[in-house]
Amino acid sequence: MIDVYQAVARPKRSEMKYLTINATLTFLAVLPISLASSDLDSSSLLSMDVSFNKSRMHPYDYWYTKQLENEPATDNDDMMNYGLHSDPLHPCVAMTKGDNHPLAHMANMYSALIQHGFGVGIDLLRGKRVLEVGSGRGGGAAVLSKCHCPDLYLGVDFNKNQIEGSQRRLTSPESDSCKLAFQQGDAMDLHNVQDSDFDIVVNMESSHCYPKFEAFVKEVYRVLKPGGIFLLGDFREDSWPEGDEFKFMTEILKRSFRHLHALDVTKNVSHSIQQRTDALQIRYEKCCQFAQKDDCAAYWGTEGSFSFAKGYAEGNFSFIMWSMTKEQRLQTPDL
Ligand SMILES: C[S@@+](CC[C@H](N)C(=O)[O-])C[C@H]1O[C@@H](n2cnc3c(N)ncnc32)[C@H](O)[C@@H]1O
Repeated sequence: MIDVYQAVARPKRSEMKYLTINATLTFLAVLPISLASSDLDSSSLLSMDVSFNKSRMHPYDYWYTKQLENEPATDNDDMMNYGLHSDPLHPCVAMTKGDNHPLAHMANMYSALIQHGFGVGIDLLRGKRVLEVGSGRGGGAAVLSKCHCPDLYLGVDFNKNQIEGSQRRLTSPESDSCKLAFQQGDAMDLHNVQDSDFDIVVNMESSHCYPKFEAFVKEVYRVLKPGGIFLLGDFREDSWPEGDEFKFMTEILKRSFRHLHALDVTKNVSHSIQQRTDALQIRYEKCCQFAQKDDCAAYWGTEGSFSFAKGYAEGNFSFIMWSMTKEQRLQTPDL
């Protein structure tokens, strides 16, 4: 039995010493760059130097393009979330990547999200159409598609280089069962996806990049079938559940969806990071070959990224998984 459901409490002040040591590694995948305007002030994520971005691309897009150029996607490098510790890891991890694989905890993050929505099991997504928004390098999509074999698993990401790479590496034109496909698109405007076309929408550690969270939620609602399930996993630099960012998100989600269940996995994420200190340090050093040290430290959460780490040490960083349902009765959300 996976222990995600037990180890869910937010870090306490009494644990601060422990957390301070590990907090230096907590901001993997937090981009050290400016976000566009949002209903919420995202300035707490803006503290790092962005002078390396000399292009006119969106800063996130520029970062992921640069990263891919310098560190091409491979089986050992096709996921970009913090990772989630559980004991044991979800059975899908052994079945796909392997329990000792360098990305085992990142694959486990995806499986824990499915488990949060559907329970433990392999056949849970059979016959379903799954859309992942923010699929990155496609590794999580490949794990879930291989393990659960939905009719279709479509990964969408804003970064076209990541999408092209995912298509090349992970899809096969011959396979018509457990079909895996990728398509470029914007979470806040999924115009290539038809209304009510998917049973499940998955979103893993990507929504923090979106300037308009409410536009994303509206799109998810539109593309889900009535009765469809939305599984969302992400962090915010805020405390759960009382922080303003989380209050805002909960309010937006509740306007459209029913049966909203939230699970605080901050501790599981922190344990995972603690166990992978050396590996993350290596990633930081590689990153420094193409980007500035401060930016890399913030991205990989290594020593020096104290501005973000401090937030976590103070219990001001939380990683939450939500599951929710689109009502059977069709209605237009009032966003
Ligand atoms: C931290 S990565 C996570 C990727 C993947 N979910 C994983 O766990 O490996 C965040 C991803 O969100 C994508 N992203 C950012 N803004 C987006 C948007 N507006 N629409 C779709 N994807 C977006 C980025 O390109 C990046 O691939």
